[in-house]
Amino acid sequence: MLGKAWLWASEKPRIQRFVAQGRIGRRVVERFVAGDTLEDAISVIRALNEAGIGGIFDLLGEGVTDPAGAQAAAEEYLESIKRIEATGVDTTVTVKLTQLGLAFDKGTCIDLLRVLAAEAHAIGTYVEIDMEQSDYATDTIDIFKLLRPDFPDLRLALQAYLRRTLVDLEALAGGQPPKVRLVKGAYAEPTELAFQRDHEIDQQYRFITDWLFDRGVDPAIATHDARLIQHARVSAETHGKSVKDFEVQMLYGVRRDLQERLASTGYRVRVYVPFGSAWYPYLMRRIAERPANLRLFLRALAGK
Ligand code: FDA
Repeated sequence: MLGKAWLWASEKPRIQRFVAQGRIGRRVVERFVAGDTLEDAISVIRALNEAGIGGIFDLLGEGVTDPAGAQAAAEEYLESIKRIEATGVDTTVTVKLTQLGLAFDKGTCIDLLRVLAAEAHAIGTYVEIDMEQSDYATDTIDIFKLLRPDFPDLRLALQAYLRRTLVDLEALAGGQPPKVRLVKGAYAEPTELAFQRDHEIDQQYRFITDWLFDRGVDPAIATHDARLIQHARVSAETHGKSVKDFEVQMLYGVRRDLQERLASTGYRVRVYVPFGSAWYPYLMRRIAERPANLRLFLRALAGK
């Protein structure tokens, strides 16, 4: 319940201004965000690489409402891709389509995403598409479908909590096998659209994991839930595959111990590394996921 209230707050600009105006301790932000600058993100990814872990580069930002904002985000991404090439770090590039204008101009969003996918491909990596609120799910999936013939490496995040996800996967499997990042889902969604209970979401997560080993390609199991990662390992083996045939993805600042343990025991691990000043909605989602984070956040807000 408290988590839902927090997710509600994450979409309210007035609360955002209150939180962002210096009342929140840096340490809460720093726990989950690599820093304000591109160089902060690069140095975090470099350190991950030294531990045998890949990066997932994320320029924070979403819900862009004007063409100039979308253009600026795309340009910043292009600069970042150049820097990724120059430094040689091992990372993919993840993007939210509302950052590229999906909320007001689908055509512009497609054009900008196409440019980013081409530039990422040119330096030997690829783009991952985050999944946002369910209002954007159909457009996001359509855009993925449109671009994947040209960019077969493109990866799409799908949310296990959405009731529609299996139907979406069946439709996606009609073309080439889909390359998916499976997540539980991080937004406040109504019961009609999304499973709410943990055990239902976990059951769905397991079922989709099996589906991905059966009919997908190079699945990314994006969770910190050790039981679901174990399920993925068993499912891979059942399908005649190994831990080298899927990726485990986790978030910067969450379960570092598990990230390192998995990487040192042969798993392919990538960590999502967000950076930039637009951290508010991202941080609120991370806080909503865990009661202990709420306590940390409230103490920081009170200046303790
Ligand atoms: P769960 O929440 O059950 O957590 C399992 C354990 O992990 C907890 O017991 C705790 O130990 C630890 N943990 C989890 N979250 C924590 C936190 N915030 N702070 C501290 N500890 C925490 N969602 C989405 O809707 N669209 C997307 O595109 C993405 N993309 C994405 C990429 C990657 C790489 C990851 C890992 C996650 C996402 N998500 C996402 C977020 C996802 O939907 C989900 O909200 C979080 O991963 C938390 O769920 P878990 O699967 O980790 O399980």
